[in-house]
Amino acid sequence: MPNGLILGIESSCDETSAAVVRDGREVLSNVVASQLIHSSYGGVVPELASREHLRAIVPVVREAMQRAGLIYSQLDAVAVTEGPGLAGALLVGITFAKALAFGADLPLIAVNHLEGHIHAVLMDTATTFADASPLLALVVSGGHTHLYLASRTPQNTWHYRNVGKTLDDAAGEAFDKVAKLLGLPYPGGPWMDALAPHGDPKAVPFTFAQIKTKATGNIAPKLSREAVLAANEDPTRFDLSFSGIKTAVRRYVELHAMQPAIATRAEALRAAGLSTARPGDPAILAKALTHFDQPTLDLIASFQASVTHYLTRTTFAAAEHFGARGLLVSGGVAANSELRRRITAEAARRNLSVAFPSIALSTDNAAMIAAAAWPKLLARNFAPDTLEPMPQLRLG
Ligand code: KG4
Ligand code: ZN
Repeated sequence: MPNGLILGIESSCDETSAAVVRDGREVLSNVVASQLIHSSYGGVVPELASREHLRAIVPVVREAMQRAGLIYSQLDAVAVTEGPGLAGALLVGITFAKALAFGADLPLIAVNHLEGHIHAVLMDTATTFADASPLLALVVSGGHTHLYLASRTPQNTWHYRNVGKTLDDAAGEAFDKVAKLLGLPYPGGPWMDALAPHGDPKAVPFTFAQIKTKATGNIAPKLSREAVLAANEDPTRFDLSFSGIKTAVRRYVELHAMQPAIATRAEALRAAGLSTARPGDPAILAKALTHFDQPTLDLIASFQASVTHYLTRTTFAAAEHFGARGLLVSGGVAANSELRRRITAEAARRNLSVAFPSIALSTDNAAMIAAAAWPKLLARNFAPDTLEPMPQLRLG
């Protein structure tokens, strides 16, 4: 490969991103334009997302090329997210990538967004795993909660098998919905993460035990040996569900008549200009904290503790079952500090290598798309000119 340079383009949800990556691991640029417009609607509005992508795509790609100090003729390929995601949003990235590839006479590579999240980890931590295979990947974001068994192929590409998924809401979606219920700005995940250390995680005893009758750990001791073996072979045993805890939070709020305080808080946070602020900034957090009472902080801490414990428990049960040689966690929720802490501690206890992407590569970005395209470029696995968005695209 002459230069090993891939321009990646990502537009599957509410981030317009372009990046240049060399040899699948060296990030020369990674420009991410986040669409703040959705925060006032409490969720991503698909039509607005497409419009914002249309506005941003040209300047974002131009900036990515400028920061990398390159012109198009120096590239080896253009990679773009094919799906899953919002149809109109994907279409903007794909149309632009196709035109660029055609105009600059470059091959086009289609990348599955979920594979991108996995490569966000592999690209900066390849040494952690050396040649270990299979790896268990937890991809946990606003749109997805999946467990994949990722195995290296003799051709040095990856093969994925989906071994677990959410049956309803994605984990990030649960964070966002509960945050909204408590009057926090959108997206709520980072706010919950920042506020949780100020509450008591044991205050509200949420439980995931009864979510699924077939779930792990729910096998009554009375069951026959055959029934236990059958449950162990059940392909749905590592599936997850988050709608139960969301409902439990709603009930708790109603039972404790917390709604009036929540409405006042939502308004106060808006008035203080905090709806589009970043809670990771200590000054912003301190300002926001003045609007919270202890019961709400306890509820936030308890919710986060249960969700992260549940994700950790299911992930390690799957890792053990499939004999994974390493573990990687990716997607927006991989930025959650409690999830990182729990998974890191459990991995150390079990002597299993674990890797997370840097915070910048946890949420949607185009560097991960360019990185996932690298083995495809080496294998000359190119997309046809007829490439179209695949909103429901699966992996494995
Ligand atoms: O990967 P991502 O940027 O987009 C999707 O593909 O969905 O993930 C965004 C999701 C949102 O639900 C957001 O609230 C959540 O990731 N998130 C977090 C944190 N940072 C982002 N959830 C919990 N704790 C965080 N620190
Ligand atoms: Zn994503």
